[in-house]
Amino acid sequence: MSGPVTGPHGPSGAGPAPLDRREEAARIVAEGLRAVAEAASLEELRALQAELVGKRSALAGLGRSLGSLEPEARRVVGAELQEARSGLEEAIGSRRSALEQAERAVALQSDRLDLTEVLAGSSRGHLHLLTQTRDELEDVFIGMGYRVAEGPEVEDDWHNFEALNLPAAHPARGMWDTLYLDQGDSESILLRTHTSPVQIRVMQTQPPPIYIVAPGRVFRRDTPDARHLSTFHQIEGLVIDRGITLGDLAGTIESFTTAYFGPGMHSRLRPSYFPFTEPSGEFEVTCPICAGSGCRTCTGTGWIELGGCGMVHPNVLGAVGLDPEEWSGFAFGFGIDRCAQVRHQVPDMRVFLDNDLRLLTQF
Ligand code: DAH
Repeated sequence: MSGPVTGPHGPSGAGPAPLDRREEAARIVAEGLRAVAEAASLEELRALQAELVGKRSALAGLGRSLGSLEPEARRVVGAELQEARSGLEEAIGSRRSALEQAERAVALQSDRLDLTEVLAGSSRGHLHLLTQTRDELEDVFIGMGYRVAEGPEVEDDWHNFEALNLPAAHPARGMWDTLYLDQGDSESILLRTHTSPVQIRVMQTQPPPIYIVAPGRVFRRDTPDARHLSTFHQIEGLVIDRGITLGDLAGTIESFTTAYFGPGMHSRLRPSYFPFTEPSGEFEVTCPICAGSGCRTCTGTGWIELGGCGMVHPNVLGAVGLDPEEWSGFAFGFGIDRCAQVRHQVPDMRVFLDNDLRLLTQF
């Protein structure tokens, strides 16, 4: 504010003299600017705004009292009051943006949702051990000339049992504790108990020669324990060609064992029974814990059982319209979860379903 302004006739009328008004305004501005700079919240700032430049502010009061001044002094002091008001408003405006920015930063920080669950120092996410295992198993068989096939998890009785030489009431149906769906005729639709029905679906849709593996999820009405899950994964193999023998089956299992478990690991077949193969076998691989010398895990035998296999039963070929005189083949099926457990020596299979980072980050 510039030099003293008095009307041509000196102070006159009621109210303070122009000089007093200007000093008063200067004081209001100086104090106001300090208060604005110190305002700690938007709320505080809003109160200050009303107090400093609102209708009932001291500044507004001063403005209203100008009527008593000479016109020239009124003009000059009026302009100065206006200037004081603008200065305060400007300061309030910039303080408001600063406070808003700070409040937004605080809100963003506290509203932040961490959707990653990444622990400090941990690596990026990756495929689950079971998915990695499935991929590696597929790769081994793709390398041997197989293709990957798929089938539905919800199956009908015919594909899951009947066509696999397991007619209704066949005693061997008890080998699979089946979960039925409440659909269609009673016990006609089910959650597949094994991947073997994919054999049927493939033979129904493509002519031999067939060389496929079918990995997938299977379901049983079983209580989970350290070596069993009620929802787990199998990989099925099927070969149909001319002149396929048990020797081809044994050689394939052996090649797979060495490729997947590593050099020095071997396989053997033991006679067993499955309705869809004849002869049938169980195949075992060298115990990876004791490398075959015998330990607690393999109950001293040096071998760990992995799955079932055999030569495709003529009734199965017949069910899909293949002539058993022309075509022969072998099939096998084993647990993917079991493979991962054996290879990585996981004591309890149930950890596969826990999604505990302490397990996940190890693989
Ligand atoms: N489907 C059998 C099971 O779940 C495993 C199996 C055994 C599959 C023999 C086969 C096989 O293809 O030939 O227990």
